[in-house]
Amino acid sequence: MRLTRQGPSLVVHTPAKLNLFLNVLGRRQDGFHDLETLMVSIRLYDTIRFESVASPDLELSCRSLRTAVMSLPFGPDNLVHRAATLLQHSCRISRGARICLFKRIPSEAGMGGGSSDAAATLVALNQCWELGLGRSRLHELASELGSDVNFFLDSSLASACSGRGELTRPVALGRPLHFVVVKPPLGLSTGRVFQAWGQIRTTTTTSLDSVASRLADGHLEHIRHGLFNSLEGPARELSADVDRLLGVLARLDVAASGMTGSGSACFGLCRSARQALGIARRLRGLRLGQIYAVSTGI
Ligand code: C5P
Repeated sequence: MRLTRQGPSLVVHTPAKLNLFLNVLGRRQDGFHDLETLMVSIRLYDTIRFESVASPDLELSCRSLRTAVMSLPFGPDNLVHRAATLLQHSCRISRGARICLFKRIPSEAGMGGGSSDAAATLVALNQCWELGLGRSRLHELASELGSDVNFFLDSSLASACSGRGELTRPVALGRPLHFVVVKPPLGLSTGRVFQAWGQIRTTTTTSLDSVASRLADGHLEHIRHGLFNSLEGPARELSADVDRLLGVLARLDVAASGMTGSGSACFGLCRSARQALGIARRLRGLRLGQIYAVSTGI
């Protein structure tokens, strides 16, 4: 994430993610699933403006270029609101904030938009409210908010994550990666996709460490063979759009294709930024959904 001070406000540009590898290992006693995943940060950002106010009120407004954002919970269920409330309670402070969220990352896409916003809120309000919380305390709070929040807190280009996703280990990325990303009109609920994994279990023998070292060596040929997602099967069962989209992407002349997180967004790993732009232009004619040509970046 990138933070800039603008007068009394702190403005944060906070990125989306793609999962290049996601292996679900099994269901846990607490209902979550143990997994190992490799995530990269991409240059598609939500922008959030924070301003501290003297009263304890949290005033959150959301805007987007797309009407789809209306399905987002604006009130106390919004992850930005939950992150701010968690900070207020855990630090026992009586100040509040005026927060304006400009959404670009699609929701229910598996691109971590809500988690990224939550991580940005922890970092920004820690500064605005001068709380002085260290990285490890912020990581504890992040894991209470969701499984992907810790990844965004690290602001790393790529991370190998385990546990339910909250245990992060930044890894090297040998070269910038370029993608075409397609988000079908309908999203998928993460909980439903994980539930469906119970019926359609797929795992891989490829280890997280071997995918991380392929990413570090930077050879596209090696990276493409490491791509895997246990949740693709269940998502294809739940959504005909995802099934069709993965078929379209597999027929493109890209290095590899796959689904991110629990979907519904899918991606093609391209050979260059130019190829990603060209494919995005071609796919726009097919009415598959929202299309992005993006590269890795923080
Ligand atoms: O952690 P997060 O709020 O993103 O998770 C949303 C839902 O996805 C959880 O309520 C759970 O049903 C499912 N999930 C899971 N195992 C994980 C992560 C998420 O079962 N590791």
